[in-house]
Amino acid sequence: DGLNTRAVAAGKAYFGSATDNGELTDTAYAAGLNNTADFGQITPGNSMKWDSIEPSRGVFSYAKGDVIANLAKANGQKLRCHTLVWHSQLPSWVSNGNFDNATLIEIMTNHITNEVSHFKGQCYHWDVVNEALNEDGTFRESVFYKTVGPAYIPLAFAAAAAADPAAKLYYNDYNIESAGLKSTGAQNIVKLVQQYGAHIDGVGMQAHFIVGSTPSQAAQEANMKAFVDLGMEVAITELDIRATTPISDADVAKQVVDYGNTVRACKAVERCVGVTIWDWTDKYSWIPSVFSGQGSALPWDGDLKKKDAVYSAILSAWDSG
Ligand code: G3I
Repeated sequence: DGLNTRAVAAGKAYFGSATDNGELTDTAYAAGLNNTADFGQITPGNSMKWDSIEPSRGVFSYAKGDVIANLAKANGQKLRCHTLVWHSQLPSWVSNGNFDNATLIEIMTNHITNEVSHFKGQCYHWDVVNEALNEDGTFRESVFYKTVGPAYIPLAFAAAAAADPAAKLYYNDYNIESAGLKSTGAQNIVKLVQQYGAHIDGVGMQAHFIVGSTPSQAAQEANMKAFVDLGMEVAITELDIRATTPISDADVAKQVVDYGNTVRACKAVERCVGVTIWDWTDKYSWIPSVFSGQGSALPWDGDLKKKDAVYSAILSAWDSG
């Protein structure tokens, strides 16, 4: 019995975790990740991003991405492949290349075709475009947007669909987990891709939350349904709930409620297919390095010890309703 077996019993495809290549040499960590009772799905935290895969133009390096894909295969875990087109972790030859519209489209589609073809048949989901929006729902001024305009998004989805028709293709972003300008912007991206005639299957809600200000279950459910009404499936793709460290008992209590609300929202929405936490132990969380003084965001602590209250909240959330 575990987080994944309960998710599957609740009719979902998986409960999963992000991971990263450097962490796998930690044998206690690897044993936890390989436990499919808890994790039926993994996401590479870094090794399928553009700077890792195509560090210079036309030079593709798949060794690290293959390690994660092969691990998923060996464990019988689903793989969420992450991510093809993102303004961050983008090598400077792309971001500073001053390419014209036609050339950047050619570079982007070549990147997508090469990478998606390489992993063809192995990706349950592909995060095709990641974080294309500003907080007010307008398009982020990435090199792709500035050079190509909004059309880069449907073009990216069309290239991914052509290279692996079986992978489910996702738009993925944060702060789109409840109604608001940015969620509306993401719904407009879905419509844009559909109007272009390209294929999109789903929208990933990253869900990088803060203890005590996580959206309510009802707010998350209503928001998911807005995407479902556009024909989308949805997934919680990068869940973590950060607190000021050391975390207080009061914040642990809030965190238990917050984790429960998010998982119950996914449980309640039929087309929410699964939940992924952004790594499973505080030992390898990205939070403390980016938000100084914050952390304790995951269900296992920095010594790989299970936080019983958080863990049981997720388990029982899968049994809710
Ligand atoms: O690999 C280099 C290493 O060679 C170097 O010595 C070291 C020194 O800083 O950096 C290492 O790269 C780091 C990389 O993670 C691998 O550990 C980068 O500095 C660091 O910036 C990078 O952070 C990643 C971050 O994305 C970058 O934006 C996190 O691990 C990763 O968890 C995080 O994931 C993102 C999702 O992709 C999208 N949504 C938000 C989420 C959290 O930021």
